[in-house]
Amino acid sequence: MAETGTDIHKATQLLQQGELVAIPTETVYGLAGNALNAEAVAKIFVVKKRPQFDPLIIHIPSPDKLTMYTQNVPAMAMRLAEKFWPGPLTLVLEKKPMIPDLVTSGLSTVGVRCPNHPLTTSLLRALDFPLAAPSANPFGYVSPTTAAHVNEQLGNDLHYILDGGACRVGIESTIVGFENDVAVIYRIGGLSVEAIESVTGKAIIQPYSTSNPKAPGQLKSHYAPAKKLILGEMLDLLQKYPAHDTGLLTFTTDYNTPYQYILSRKGSLEEAAQNLFAALRSFDKMPVEIILAEPVPDTGIGQAINDRLRRAAAEKD
Ligand code: TXA
Ligand code: MG
Repeated sequence: MAETGTDIHKATQLLQQGELVAIPTETVYGLAGNALNAEAVAKIFVVKKRPQFDPLIIHIPSPDKLTMYTQNVPAMAMRLAEKFWPGPLTLVLEKKPMIPDLVTSGLSTVGVRCPNHPLTTSLLRALDFPLAAPSANPFGYVSPTTAAHVNEQLGNDLHYILDGGACRVGIESTIVGFENDVAVIYRIGGLSVEAIESVTGKAIIQPYSTSNPKAPGQLKSHYAPAKKLILGEMLDLLQKYPAHDTGLLTFTTDYNTPYQYILSRKGSLEEAAQNLFAALRSFDKMPVEIILAEPVPDTGIGQAINDRLRRAAAEKD
């Protein structure tokens, strides 16, 4: 198990030595290393068992650092950064040469995010390099939203977990790039499509594509728990699947069964997002064979919740 605590000085020292530290953000926990040190970045891919064709995003302490690492930033990107940073938004922009190719999997663009969490902001301010950090879970599995989630899966491969409590948003950042002066949403996430479009006008939501996965987080099967998850209308599902084998993941309804997780009794999509990944993980510890899940209303952060449920339900191949 990795040591867990709130010692920013210790985290700073480890990162300066090229080691990895798990960090809290408002979205999910990240597995962080010095983004300008190719050896540290290589360790991230090894610990996460992540294929090297899947690029990492970098984290900066404040919006004004954006142009240290990127160039030819479109005005639209600047406006998004001004309005939503710090926050659950990653901008894909032309990189400067100082960003190692390993970070970007050889792409000419880099994803940049300014996270909104006091501990991680202090940490980033204490460092003179940005942090490369994917979500701190093994590739393909559900992202961690507590320090304990990180410790369960990556605790043996890490020196330190900076514990910032449960993540306030609970779903990964929304990823936005720019093609021909139009905003392209590569991953729906913690910042709603409506919020993005209020700045950019109509955006393109890049559909999943196996031939050219711009954001492999968009791979069809991803964010998946160990158990099989079936998504549909709960009343239909309850008729089709035998009750003794199933765990139920509902938005608000209590079915009074022992193996269920209600995302938000009061019907709050924000609360449902906060609980989603802990909920998916909880079924892996229950004696059930399959998870029956229902979609939530498809507005605001509900779109990101439904996206993650669909990917959790997709067949692994
Ligand atoms: O909320 C988040 O974004 C969290 C926290 C830790 O910041 N990070 C996170 O990282 O979710 P990761 O690596 O699990 O997901 C980032 C996604 C990946 O699917 C990757 O393929 C995509 O961003 N990505 C990275 N660089 C990209 C680029 N240059 N163009 C398109 N997609 C990119
Ligand atoms: Mg991830």
